Amino acid sequence: MVDRPRGTRDLDPVYLARHWAVDAAFRRTAASFAFREVLPPTFEHLELFHAKAGPGIEAEMYGFKDKAGRDLVLRPEFTAGVLRYYVNELRNAPKPIKLFSIGPAFRYEEPQKGRYREFWQYSCELIGGAPLDADAETIAMLHEELDQAGQLDLEATLRAWVGLRGGPEVLKQAADVLGGVGTEGFDHLQRIADRLPTYGIRGGILFDMGIIRGLAYYTGMVFQVHTPTLGAEDQVLGGGSYALAELFGGEPIFSTGFAIGMDRIVLASEVEGVAVPPPRLDAYVIPIGDASRPKAFEIAATLRETGLRVDVDLIGRGPSKNLDYANAMGARWAVLAGDKELAKGNVALRNMETGDQREVAIGELASVLGMDKPPMGGVEFH
Ligand code: HAM
Repeated sequence: MVDRPRGTRDLDPVYLARHWAVDAAFRRTAASFAFREVLPPTFEHLELFHAKAGPGIEAEMYGFKDKAGRDLVLRPEFTAGVLRYYVNELRNAPKPIKLFSIGPAFRYEEPQKGRYREFWQYSCELIGGAPLDADAETIAMLHEELDQAGQLDLEATLRAWVGLRGGPEVLKQAADVLGGVGTEGFDHLQRIADRLPTYGIRGGILFDMGIIRGLAYYTGMVFQVHTPTLGAEDQVLGGGSYALAELFGGEPIFSTGFAIGMDRIVLASEVEGVAVPPPRLDAYVIPIGDASRPKAFEIAATLRETGLRVDVDLIGRGPSKNLDYANAMGARWAVLAGDKELAKGNVALRNMETGDQREVAIGELASVLGMDKPPMGGVEFH
């Protein structure tokens, strides 16, 4: 037996049905906000993250030398890679630029529930918008993302300075503490608070003057989202506005973004009982006797072409063992291909739920099976 590396998981079919449902919900919202997908490489030069991500993340990076002696790291996040791509390929493209990425990221952290060494992020970057508009649009989008991905009890938290936490009134209090000096940041947050209702967002946002984010590249507003369902690892999203393009040789450009911890959303949706249909199997084709095997494979191939999910006996089991297997796989129908029926151009079709069985012409199988086809498991998520 060889164990998995510590902090990694085998994502099984049930987990993945939920994972891809979350993925589909994220993509729908990204499309509705006109974000386009980009996928930077899984490993990058160490210098991309060195002194940009901050000492916390840098200490957690998976680094290695390739055969030519280059220092490489598995990406601990997407923002630096996406901004490198922007500077290399898109610096002259019309602004603003809206990009999202979905994939695994790697951090050598102490593993626990909701915290892994390989985890999935859904990361969004809005590059080159006007500060107020881009910040507000980004918050509106992440709000919609989390709304669509399951009914999380949201607390979006705008975090900026020491000691004060609450509604927009804390911005005024914080400005008073500073005696009006250097209070542009609070004015900015106030303007964002005023803007959010135009996106239909009323409440759920907390202004917190006392928290610092783990990544070092933020230069403006930062925010996090927490869920009450996950215990210690309750932060499902982090982000803010930042300056990275100039570190990679580009002009300074205002950028705001966030990343959602997909694994934590998947976990939270499970804890909250959000239903995801299991992957379905429409039909399992059972040849009865060796002579009918070629015809059984032909029937399976024809049904697959119509878009049905179909499996066929690959072991040469007897019919009753095959029915047990069809049952264990959750097949809706068993198609029994026996010599007697095949000679008439028919098969026996068994409804696995009711046990009813009847003879059906092979030519009509696809339409009979397609008629009550339930939605595809694992892609619809509301
Ligand atoms: P971050 O806060 O480091 O921000 O990560 C974002 C989210 O990824 C966290 O809120 C958490 O849900 C999830 N996450 C982080 N580490 C782990 C882990 N070890 N296991 C499971 N989930 C984890 C960033 O990565 C920034 N790039 C966000 C950003 C985008 N800022 C601007 N643009």
